[in-house]
Amino acid sequence: HAQAVSIPVYFHIIKSATGAGGVTTTQINNQITVLNNAYAASGFSFYLAGTDTTNNGTWYTCTGGSCETQMKNALRQGTATALNFYTNNMGGGLLGWATFPWSYSSAPKMDGVVVLQSSLPGGSASPFNLGDTGTHEVGHWMGLYHTFQGGCAAPGDSVSDTPDEASPASGCPTGRNTCSTAGNDPIDNFMDYSDDACMNKFTAGQNTRMNSMWTSYRSGR
Ligand code: ARG
Ligand code: ZN
Ligand code: CA
Repeated sequence: HAQAVSIPVYFHIIKSATGAGGVTTTQINNQITVLNNAYAASGFSFYLAGTDTTNNGTWYTCTGGSCETQMKNALRQGTATALNFYTNNMGGGLLGWATFPWSYSSAPKMDGVVVLQSSLPGGSASPFNLGDTGTHEVGHWMGLYHTFQGGCAAPGDSVSDTPDEASPASGCPTGRNTCSTAGNDPIDNFMDYSDDACMNKFTAGQNTRMNSMWTSYRSGR
C-alpha cells in the first residue's frame, strides 16, 4: 500500500433523555481494536482521539433526517481525515449507516458513521455483536460499496477481486454462488451482510480502492 495513515476517531455516545443506553469504555477500546485488526493490511490504523456523551431522546433513536443533521452539526470533530463514530439505539432493525468520502466536500458536517450501540463488541445484537458493523460502516466511509452492489453485472462494486454477488448474503452460508461469473459469493467479506463471525477480510483490490479514495477525497483536506 501507498501510505501509512493513522486516523483519529471521535466517539459520540448518545443516551436517552433519562440516560439509558450508552457503551462502556471497554467496548470503545475493543471497537478500535476490531478496526485495527480489520484494516491492518490496508495501511490504515485508528486511535481514540476523543469521546463525548450526550443525553438526547431524539438523537437516541435517530435513523436519519433532521435529527441526524442536528446531531452531527452539534458534535462533529476534526477535518476530512477524522473518523466521527456516532453510536445510538436507532431501532427499526438497522445496524448502521455511513457517508462516502466524495460527499465530504459538499457536506463536511455530515461525514461519519452511525452505529447501533448493541453491535459494539460484547453488545446484545448477536449475531452482529463482534464490532463488524463498525468495520463495515467504516468501509463505506473509506469509499467501498457492498460486495453485492450492481448484482452480477459489471462494474459491480468496482473492485475486480471481489466476485460478483446477486444479492446480500445472510447468516454464514457455505458455497453460495448467485452469479454465473467466476467465484463463489464473497460472504467472508466485511462489505457483505453475513454474520459478524463470518466476515473476516478486505481484498487487496478493496485496500487499493480505499487508498485511492483517501488520496482523492481525504488526505490534506
Ligand atoms: N446494513 C448495514 C449497512 O448496509 C450494516 C450491515 C452490517 N453487517 C454486519 N454483519 N455487521 O451499512
Ligand atoms: Zn453497508
Ligand atoms: Ca467485484
